[in-house]
Amino acid sequence: MCRYIKGIMNQLGLAVREDAVGNIFGRWEGSEAGLGAVGTGSHVDAIPFSGKYDGVVGVLGALEAISLLKRSGFQPKRSLEVIMFTSEEPTRFGISCLGSRLMAGIEELAQSLRMVVDNQNVSFLDAAESAGYKMGPEDLHSVFLKKDSYSAFIELHIEQGPILEKEGIPIGIVTAIAAPASITVEFEGNGGHAGAVLMPARNDAGLAAAELALAIEKHVLESGSIDTVGTTGILQLHPGAINSIPSKSHLEIDVRDIDEKRRNDVIEKIRRSATEISKNRGVMLSEFKIINQDPPALSDKSVIDAMEFAVKQLNLEYKKMISRAYHDSLFMARVSPMGMIFIPCYKGYSHKPEEYASQEDMANGVKVLALTMAKLSLE
Ligand code: GLV
Ligand code: MN
Ligand code: MN
Ligand code: MN
Repeated sequence: MCRYIKGIMNQLGLAVREDAVGNIFGRWEGSEAGLGAVGTGSHVDAIPFSGKYDGVVGVLGALEAISLLKRSGFQPKRSLEVIMFTSEEPTRFGISCLGSRLMAGIEELAQSLRMVVDNQNVSFLDAAESAGYKMGPEDLHSVFLKKDSYSAFIELHIEQGPILEKEGIPIGIVTAIAAPASITVEFEGNGGHAGAVLMPARNDAGLAAAELALAIEKHVLESGSIDTVGTTGILQLHPGAINSIPSKSHLEIDVRDIDEKRRNDVIEKIRRSATEISKNRGVMLSEFKIINQDPPALSDKSVIDAMEFAVKQLNLEYKKMISRAYHDSLFMARVSPMGMIFIPCYKGYSHKPEEYASQEDMANGVKVLALTMAKLSLE
């Protein structure tokens, strides 16, 4: 995939660069190359059993936007740059937006990446090395972006929700990205034989996990807002045999809200429930770890204005909206003015195989992106 994307970048005459963790950059140098560039891009990695459009539209779409501008004879003033980010999805190491988080210069991440392992106990550094990215201790810091590298960053993405399709609107202009958090929890009990250990003698780590999953749903529903969401997306039991009482359980929990404080209150309630459940059930709460607890991000007025200009120029209808999903833009917003363009997707489906966006909608998104970049390049 990386080779394929680099191949297209080369065909388009872009200068290709790859950083230590595999973020890939294709740059079209502008006439004032010393100015901050206008960046765009997304990711092509995917969660298991997902669709083909999440992220991919923003990478291939960005390359098509560049191709469109080249074909039309456009000459950029600020350089234009397409970025394909490494590991937006948290699938293997539990860290979402790994590439863009590092680019944003988060020191704790550079530290923790030296230690993390996947569920087969393979370290991030070993996995990177076997994929051809051998890293010395300082290489992770080399990924950090220099200040003012970008004057704007725009990401094209499918909406991953039903609003645009339902309302028949071709373009969404994102004004804010909701605040995501993820937590891992582990309970440990004595386990034992499913026939021989009588109910009063048990401390079942699996039931503790089940009770916590239900408590999370309750805390989220009681937040007072429809914008609070919580998901126990992973629940693993050990040893995983029908006739063995679970001696260990592992949960991975995703909590989001557009309101950071309200989301944090839910996390505190989850923590209290985990402690209570462990006491009541006589199991040990061997881990309660907040993996990330990110603030929300706001789009920048300068980028919103440019996107609105482009949409109006193209005579398309649009709607301002928030992104409930997170994106690399959440982290690019820390180092650059940011904005996102959404296009409709079939029934709002995403993170499942039925995900789909029509050619017409993708083409509209590409045109809006191209025009937005062109405008920002000349500012
Ligand atoms: C990332 O894909 C997310 O879960 O929003
Ligand atoms: Mn995704
Ligand atoms: Mn995505
Ligand atoms: Mn995402």
